[in-house]
Amino acid sequence: MTITPKRTQDSVIQMTELVLPNDTNTFGNLMGGRLMYWMDIAAALASMKHCSAPVVTASVDNISFENPIKLGNVVHIEAKVSRAFTTSMEVHLRVWGEDPVQQYRYKSNEAFMTFVALDPNGKSRIVPPIVPDTEDEKNLYDGALRRRQLRLILSGKMKPEDAEELKALFA
Ligand SMILES: CC(C)(COP(=O)(O)OP(=O)(O)OC[C@H]1O[C@@H](n2cnc3c(N)ncnc32)[C@H](O)[C@@H]1OP(=O)(O)O)[C@@H](O)C(=O)NCCC(=O)NCCS
Repeated sequence: MTITPKRTQDSVIQMTELVLPNDTNTFGNLMGGRLMYWMDIAAALASMKHCSAPVVTASVDNISFENPIKLGNVVHIEAKVSRAFTTSMEVHLRVWGEDPVQQYRYKSNEAFMTFVALDPNGKSRIVPPIVPDTEDEKNLYDGALRRRQLRLILSGKMKPEDAEELKALFA
């Protein structure tokens, strides 16, 4: 069975949220957990758009919050599939805050999440390959193999000695 490849751009999801009092911590900033919830949804939608199937979150790489997003500010999340493997997809997310009155944007964080496509029986199913077009998409695509090996080692699903891409970095 051949599966037609799809373009990175076709998986892009843009999510916009307004930070309301219920979304904040005691400092009046957006809670990290609420942001991760929105990021998980945006990333799941991007991966579903790519594979046209239901997905589950397999893993979330480390997230560093560079700048807090304030109450009353806007959250912009961009999610896109950076690389598709056999049944899993790596999704890249970029998050910005925006002051809607002064109208300036600031970077909040960047992250990678991995999703697995499921068939109607809940078993993992094959996803289409992805074709990157822009320089940014190509860079993300090229680094995805190394990140995948690192996360599989950390989750105990790959032996370090089998991580050829990672080993090549140090050779
Ligand atoms: C993710 C899940 C489907 C993987 O199932 P599994 O039996 O380990 O499946 P496999 O070993 O066949 O792996 C399937 C794919 O997942 C990938 N995968 C498994 N664990 C992973 C991890 N920790 N990080 C990244 N990818 C992972 C594998 O590399 C494989 O990808 P590939 O087919 O593209 O090579 C399964 O563990 C699961 O359902 N987890 C719960 C998901 C969930 O409920 N998420 C919501 C958060 S609570």
